[in-house]
Amino acid sequence: MRIVVAGSGYVGLVSGAGFAETGHDVVCADIDAEKIERLQRGEVPIFEPGLDALIERNVAEGRLSFTADVPAALKTAQAIFIAVGTPMRADGAATLTAVDSVAEMVAEHAERECVLVAKSTVPVGTNARLRRLVTDAKVPVHVVSNPEFLKEGAAVGDFMRPDRIVVGVDEDDTFAKDTMKRLYHPLCLDKDRMVWMDPASAELTKYVANTMLAMRISFMNEIAALCEKVGADAHKVRYGVGSDARIGPKFLYAGPGYGGSCFPKDVKALVHTARDHGVELELAATTDRVNVRQKGLLFRKLKRHFDDDLRGKRIAIWGIAFKPRTDDLREGPALTLMDALLADGAEVIAHDPEAIDNAKERYGDRVTFVEDQYAAVKDADALVLVTEWRQYLNPDFDRLKSLLRRPLLLDGRNSWSEFGVRQMGFLYEGVGVRGS
Ligand SMILES: NC(=O)c1ccc[n+]([C@@H]2O[C@H](COP(=O)([O-])OP(=O)(O)OC[C@H]3O[C@@H](n4cnc5c(N)ncnc54)[C@H](O)[C@@H]3O)[C@@H](O)[C@H]2O)c1
Repeated sequence: MRIVVAGSGYVGLVSGAGFAETGHDVVCADIDAEKIERLQRGEVPIFEPGLDALIERNVAEGRLSFTADVPAALKTAQAIFIAVGTPMRADGAATLTAVDSVAEMVAEHAERECVLVAKSTVPVGTNARLRRLVTDAKVPVHVVSNPEFLKEGAAVGDFMRPDRIVVGVDEDDTFAKDTMKRLYHPLCLDKDRMVWMDPASAELTKYVANTMLAMRISFMNEIAALCEKVGADAHKVRYGVGSDARIGPKFLYAGPGYGGSCFPKDVKALVHTARDHGVELELAATTDRVNVRQKGLLFRKLKRHFDDDLRGKRIAIWGIAFKPRTDDLREGPALTLMDALLADGAEVIAHDPEAIDNAKERYGDRVTFVEDQYAAVKDADALVLVTEWRQYLNPDFDRLKSLLRRPLLLDGRNSWSEFGVRQMGFLYEGVGVRGS
């Protein structure tokens, strides 16, 4: 099938390459001409494990190409996926300008009956809005909601082996149903993963899933604060609670607050949508408030160690990406920490295996970035672990001790709490754990 994926970011590139891998003929289109030129030269502009090889193979085999001429690509497509960004507005609502502009291009340029599939995360009601935008198209355009659930860092596997494929489509739209079935058939060979519903329910499902996961994290962060007061251990509580089959172990990790391009904006957007309809989602609103407070936690903890005065203190940071195995910084707790440290006059030396280029774009030379994780620690007054990349999980503690000016470890992910670091002579602080 001839597919166009509009938007070549984390979702668009992974979905485009994934569909090509299953035999479809895919064009990834983007208005960012520089990004497209890089892709055409064989460069992958983002770090996502396994994506380079997937793109290279499918380009070489002629099933995947890239263009900045979005209207030309749309003309003869049978399926057009909208995978553009839907960033947060100041009031918390999702911005739909890019989504609308793809629909407008389809209305003007489509020359073949097609499905227009919203894969971007869009508020409930967007499907109906897109239908209005394509009513005057020259050919029938069937609007479908198909939210994406992939996780950065494991996106290729998530796309190729999804837990479920949510499709919101009108009950009587057989063209759209048949097209979606055919598109995803190769991902459903071992079991049927398609979950069919009306468009509004599909749109809401994505926001509810992300908000529920965010809620688990915020709840455990609140419990971690209580653990610190009562002398309990958030790790142990997590094991104990997560081993209940009704609850499960995932998304129960206390830490420096959730970041990323999805959870913060999606929780806020859900609260905003509900308010527009006269419903107050108190749990969701609190989830967001707790997270905003949590993102300041590492900074508050650091300050306490320096009598509230961080001026001239040299602080080493391990991990800038919002989570391991991605170069995506968006809304990450490391940014909140680095902003606060710089505002307080501290010197920041940071390391990350993949996110340094993106961080340099944001901070320029206000932060020193180093290629070697131990170089960040030399003569530092504290080391803060913000993102739990694997290479940080078992550091050479003797080396850290000899490099640090002051042996303070602030472990935002509780990665070292059971390693006896206090016994080694470090000052240690985790999130809801005492450390040994
Ligand atoms: N990143 C994730 O993990 C993830 C997971 C699931 C869902 N989502 C959702 O998917 C959507 C895309 O997210 P992302 O992280 O891939 O975004 P991104 O910012 O990485 O990429 C968006 C791309 O869209 C392009 N674009 C903007 N307007 C365009 C237009 N009119 N035509 C063509 N291209 C256009 C931009 O240039 C950019 O390259 C968002 O709604 C997001 O909430 C993201």
